[in-house]
Amino acid sequence: MYRIAVIPGDGTGPEVVREGLKVLDAAAAKTGVRYELTYYDLGGERYLRTGEVLPDTVLDELRGFDAIYLGAIGHPEVAPGILEKGLLLRLRFELDQYINLRPVKLYPGVDCPLKDKGPEDIDFVVVRENTEGLYSGAGGFQYKGTPHEVSTQIHVTTRFGAERCIRYAFDLARKRNKMKKLTLCAKTNVLTYVHDTWWRAFNEVGDADYPDIQRDYAHVDATTMWMVKNPEWFDVIVVENMFGDIITDLGAMIQGGLGVAAGGNINPNGVSMFEPIGGSAPKYTGQNVVCPIAAIGAAQMMMDFLGEAETARRIERAVMDALASGRIKSLAAGKMGMTTSEVGDFIAELAGR
Ligand code: IPM
Ligand code: MN
Repeated sequence: MYRIAVIPGDGTGPEVVREGLKVLDAAAAKTGVRYELTYYDLGGERYLRTGEVLPDTVLDELRGFDAIYLGAIGHPEVAPGILEKGLLLRLRFELDQYINLRPVKLYPGVDCPLKDKGPEDIDFVVVRENTEGLYSGAGGFQYKGTPHEVSTQIHVTTRFGAERCIRYAFDLARKRNKMKKLTLCAKTNVLTYVHDTWWRAFNEVGDADYPDIQRDYAHVDATTMWMVKNPEWFDVIVVENMFGDIITDLGAMIQGGLGVAAGGNINPNGVSMFEPIGGSAPKYTGQNVVCPIAAIGAAQMMMDFLGEAETARRIERAVMDALASGRIKSLAAGKMGMTTSEVGDFIAELAGR
C-alpha cells in the first residue's frame, strides 16, 4: 500500500490531477497496485486565505510519503516568487529532490513542429540538476532603489551536487540501454568556473565508473539547435539547473507541447515529486479544456519510480493508444475536440482494459 500525497495546487492543476488519478486508478485496478491518497490544499488560494505557503508541520508530514503528486503552482493574484520559491522550490530543496527528470518523447499520432521527425527520432531524457546553480538564492541588492543599485544572483555549484547529478545521468543512460550516450550541456567557454567543475566531474566520473557510456558535450546554445534539427542525436542530457529549465521547455515543444510534458523531481533515496511541467495556466482555470496527458504522464513516472513498472507501462500504453487513435484533435488547450475529463475518461478506459 503506497501512501501518496496529492497537491492539486493552482489554476488548472486540480483539473489535470483529477484525470491523472482517474487513469492511475484504472491502471492500478488491473495490476493490483494499492495506494492511499492524502490531499493537501497548498497553493495560491491557501496563501491568500491564511498567509501560509508551506507550514513546517506540513513539510514534515510530506517527508513521510512514498511520493507526492503535484498539479501546478502559480497564482495570478500572488506576487511572483512567493509560491515558486516558498512552495515548489522549497519542496524540491527540503526534500533534496536533486534531480529534475524530464523525458522528451514524441508519441504516435502527435503533430510535431518538426514534421519529418518521428517517434524514433525524439526520445531522450533531460537530467536537470534541481537544487543549485542560479536557483540557490545566493545574492542580493546593494543601494536598492537608488541610481547606484547593484544586484547579484550567484551561481552556486558544488562538486558534490554536480557529481551526484552526473552519476544519476550516467546510471540512467546505462539503464535505458539505448545509445548508451550521455551529453553534458553547459557553457564551458563562458562560465569558466562553475562549468569547469561540471566538466571535470563529468569526465572523471565517466573515466572511473562508466567506460561503457559514450560521452558527448554541447554548449547550451548549440543544444537548443540540435534539439530541433537533430533530436535523434540525444539519449540522455545532463545539465545544470537554469539551462535545464530552459532546454526542457524547448523539449516540451518538440514533443508536442506542454500538454504532454511530464517531469519528476527526484531524490533517489527520499521523497520524490511528479508534476506536469507546464504550470497553472490561469487563463484556462475551471474551463475543463487543458490537456491532462502531462499529468497522466507524471502519474506514470511516479509508478515507474516506485518500481511499479507494469502499472507505468499500462498508463503509457493507454496514452499512446489514445494519441494514436486520432480522436484527440490537438494537445493545445481548448483545441482537443474533447474536454479535460473526456480525455481522462478515454485514457482511463484504455488503461483499465
Ligand atoms: C519548472 C518551472 C519552475 C522552475 C518555476 C515555476 C520556479 O519553470 O518547473 O520548470 O524554474 O524550475
Ligand atoms: Mn520551467
